[in-house]
Amino acid sequence: LLLPKAVCGRTEVKQPIPTQCSPPHAAYFSLVPTSPPSPPLSSLAELAALVLSTPDPSTKSRLSHLAFSRWLRLRLPVGAAPPPLRPARPPNPPLVSPKEVPTHKNSGLPLNAYMLHNLAHVELNAIDLAWDTVARFAPLRDVLGDEFFADFARVADDESRHFAWCSQRLAELGFSYGDMPAHNLLWRECEKSSGDVSARLAVIPLVQEARGLDAGPRLVQKLIGFGDHRSSDIVAKIAEEEVAHVAVGVYWFAQVCQKMGRIPCHTFKDLLDEYGVELKGPFNYSARDEAGIPRDWYDGTSRRQFESELSKVHERLACIVAMEKENSSLNG
Ligand SMILES: [Fe+2]
Repeated sequence: LLLPKAVCGRTEVKQPIPTQCSPPHAAYFSLVPTSPPSPPLSSLAELAALVLSTPDPSTKSRLSHLAFSRWLRLRLPVGAAPPPLRPARPPNPPLVSPKEVPTHKNSGLPLNAYMLHNLAHVELNAIDLAWDTVARFAPLRDVLGDEFFADFARVADDESRHFAWCSQRLAELGFSYGDMPAHNLLWRECEKSSGDVSARLAVIPLVQEARGLDAGPRLVQKLIGFGDHRSSDIVAKIAEEEVAHVAVGVYWFAQVCQKMGRIPCHTFKDLLDEYGVELKGPFNYSARDEAGIPRDWYDGTSRRQFESELSKVHERLACIVAMEKENSSLNG
């Protein structure tokens, strides 16, 4: 299997965030006034369970980074620790059904803060989604190998940085995460796929995170239109880093399918049917291509286009054969 380009760079040190967007990662974590507890734990799965059990969003985000650093520095084993059924959450924001989430107009927040709040919610969930994947599937370590867990721990670290950027920018605008209700949709998809690693990879990185690739440029343009270039820079940087997360999902989904002796494209579609997950465009083809998701996995039109082009070729061939027959009967 060829490693997608974005995945190949997964062991490299992350680029620092441009200074106009936010302070560098390490600086953010060293400047926070109240330090989260230093993780005393001895395996990656235990660290994952600790992050999942932490309700305060800022502490969760900092702990996520510390857990990743500790695992990297001490070369801890994957180990085992049962993750909580659901990640711990703060009292605010209240989690409501998607229909009850306020629209921008009745949220009481300006458009830039409203959009950053929504994104902060996605990033906070993404921290838990990545750590849940580590802890939930740790018993499969012998089959999946250490690299699977290394990749998702690194994703969790990226997500903690994304949440920190969003909440820092919200604070600069005079708001904070929890200022408006948020939906409970993201965790439902995670729960559904808790018993099957191939379903988890299909539903989370290949659908949910890929939707983030589709939405990224629209968010950036809206923030530019609103005149908030600092927020648009942050969102653009986050969108750029999400490509590698989808690439990690594609790579591991293909690996798991190979181990199961199944065809990735068909398996992906079967899993979406089984788990009732719908794919909706418009798709950001260039970002999805960069992440390595083959178009025929998600875009029904490309399959239909292929079939219609194929039937045109068949028609032309049938026409040529008929003409040849006619010519030979005339010559004969
Ligand atoms: Fe993210």
